Amino acid sequence: MSFVTGLECHLCGKQYPAEANWVCSECLGPLRVTYDYGAMRGVVTRERIASRPHSLWRYQELLPVEAPRTGFHSGFTPLVRADRLAHELGVKELYIKDDSVNHPTFSYKDRVVSVAATKAAEFGCEVFGCASTGNLANSVAAHAARLGLTCMVFIPDDLEPSKVLGSAVYGPKIFAVDGNYDDVNRLCTQLADRYGWGFANINLRSYYAEGAKTMGFEIVEQLGWRFPVHLVSPVAGGTLLPRILRGFEEFLDLGLVAGDLPHIHAVQPLGSSPVINALEAGLEFPEPVKPATIAKSLAIGNPADGFQVLSSVRRTGGSGAAVPDDEILDAIELLARTEGIFTEPAGGTTLAGTRRLIERGAIKPDESVVVLITGNGYKTADVMRDRVAEPVRVGKGLRDFEAVMGGTPVTAGR
Ligand SMILES: Cc1ncc(COP(=O)(O)O)c(C=O)c1O
Ligand SMILES: [Zn+2]
Repeated sequence: MSFVTGLECHLCGKQYPAEANWVCSECLGPLRVTYDYGAMRGVVTRERIASRPHSLWRYQELLPVEAPRTGFHSGFTPLVRADRLAHELGVKELYIKDDSVNHPTFSYKDRVVSVAATKAAEFGCEVFGCASTGNLANSVAAHAARLGLTCMVFIPDDLEPSKVLGSAVYGPKIFAVDGNYDDVNRLCTQLADRYGWGFANINLRSYYAEGAKTMGFEIVEQLGWRFPVHLVSPVAGGTLLPRILRGFEEFLDLGLVAGDLPHIHAVQPLGSSPVINALEAGLEFPEPVKPATIAKSLAIGNPADGFQVLSSVRRTGGSGAAVPDDEILDAIELLARTEGIFTEPAGGTTLAGTRRLIERGAIKPDESVVVLITGNGYKTADVMRDRVAEPVRVGKGLRDFEAVMGGTPVTAGR
């Protein structure tokens, strides 16, 4: 059963039916899904949610589908209490929301794509596709394979080879476009318009974005039905951060949680930081930039939901940080060394930003903080090549080993 009532323009409020539509014909504002929250009250309860399987579909009434068709193992990723990391950063209560182990393609995108793919199937789209910086294409290709949908994904032509392979293996048609993500997005917008294909993050965007709320729902549930004081999120196109806030507000409205909303902080790589620039300059809309960063999954110079990110950060009393590439790599190393979690540069960005926010006093030592780790390091392992020690080469005899060790006993740890 669906509680969806339709779509509504985020800017002027005009109402639309729940079709494959994403932009307001009056003011070109983005459309969002609306629900009958009154009918949900008393139906969506903590007990009911807790009785369901561990996937994002445990929050099914708050998602815009008739019935889930894919993503039965997506979401409900670990919320890890990270005491060793907290100690190094100088705070008492820090959690990692670990979407690096999301299913099936190891990034937060599995949440939004589970919803978008279900919607593409409901609408009977001839083709399911996306414009992507890598992770989204991986997830779209995998979900399309499971649903037997024809798949076309469009990426910039300079992505990490292992990320491209991580889409190719599922058998989609991949187009590596001679341009950056913003060029890819423009082309896909034209294709969606001309052919009516279902692009997860373009004409299915209103539905796709709803999947991101589940990360917020899970954090509240996994903390024992409470909010943290702070939350730190990466930003690229700007889907995730505002939807986490929307998820928190829905839980508040439904009486599933009480208390103050968290301060939501945005982090971007310095080489692609239109939102942070706008926050600092006091602008309402970001000015587009030309991205140049090792965090390729965050290399979006003209974020579709930049306005919404800015208003969400400001409304919750959050702040922003832009971090250089060397700090991103340091943070990847720090997370691996202290918590045994290997993230990609997007996660390194978020953690490096968290470190800056703590140093700057925006996050105080005794305030709880959740850091969103949204992608997996095994997809981009090459970025760490110069950062890690080579294996010690040794012969196969005991003497060879002891010669290499110089007679010193092996000591545990660092
Ligand atoms: C691993 C990872 N984290 C975060 C993001 C940023 O998400 P959003 O575009 O919702 O701001 C992306 C986007 O591609 C991503 O791949
Ligand atoms: Zn409008």
